[in-house]
Amino acid sequence: MSSSGRVTFHGVVVPPSNFLEDVVAGLALAQKAVPPKYFYDARGSELFEAICALPEYYPTRAEISLTSQHVDAIAQFAGPGCELIEYGSGASTKTRILIAKLRPEAYIPVDISESALRGAAEKLASEFPWLEIRAVTGDFGRPLALSAFGGSGRKVVYFPGSTIGNLTREEALAFLHMTRGQVGPGGGMLVGVDLKKDPNVLHAAYNDAGGVTARFNLNLLARINAELGADFAVDRFVHYAFYNAPMGRIEMHLASLERQAVNVGAYRFWFAAGETVHTENSCKYSIDEFQALAAQAGFRGEKVWTDKDRLFSLHGLVAA
Ligand code: TRP
Repeated sequence: MSSSGRVTFHGVVVPPSNFLEDVVAGLALAQKAVPPKYFYDARGSELFEAICALPEYYPTRAEISLTSQHVDAIAQFAGPGCELIEYGSGASTKTRILIAKLRPEAYIPVDISESALRGAAEKLASEFPWLEIRAVTGDFGRPLALSAFGGSGRKVVYFPGSTIGNLTREEALAFLHMTRGQVGPGGGMLVGVDLKKDPNVLHAAYNDAGGVTARFNLNLLARINAELGADFAVDRFVHYAFYNAPMGRIEMHLASLERQAVNVGAYRFWFAAGETVHTENSCKYSIDEFQALAAQAGFRGEKVWTDKDRLFSLHGLVAA
């Protein structure tokens, strides 16, 4: 743990995961896959911030616009003096709007990228000198130890960016259950959820003309090479993203351009021409579908806000 001013950094309140083990297990599957949390090394977090600014990538703009428009009602839902916990906080861009209005007792950002977290926490500390920040480096898919909390205010988890869409429906249900336990009875959750819409709009958002999303996806292979001593020929793979309508999700893959072998440490994996590594899902929900899922996890849906074009939704949930 280290501190500067009102910012405290907590490094060990989340049990660690194992990159090598997860990659080897994922590449051994019939449909090869790597968990999306590994996108976010320093370079991946930077590329992700660039995605959020792309003309084709509407979710960030839509969510910022609906948050600004409804900030009074959102702050009223969270309640004054709450402890605001954010999962996958990254640059904490949307959170600024909320913090200014809410004046939480403490802000607890949790992110897997230490560089993104440190940058964001320092910026927030200078913008909001009165704010107590307890920054946690770790995987929000695992429970946080009590030492991350510590205050007495109502716990409200903020989970924007449709990050919940990056979980399958089953994983999202399990995650909501876990979060309900973490906030305790009467605790709150604010979840940003991307809505179902014209598949062409969805397709363009994950296939930008400038190729930033492709670089973000391919960076995963570069990271595996650098950190796990693997030998992916990064230029022999391409970004491949499409809308899977029956599953209601964008799928992101890395496709091999040819038949080839890849070594990862002591392991070798063969790719057929066109074979893919599934790197991410981005599930899209209707408002009713998401409300039903939250109810199944023991949350009462109290409020839903959308932007004027109804591209994106923010759900205010209360732990029953
Ligand atoms: N959760 C957001 C989404 O699914 C952001 C995101 C995560 C994303 N990984 C991404 C966006 C990869 C584009 C590409 O849209």
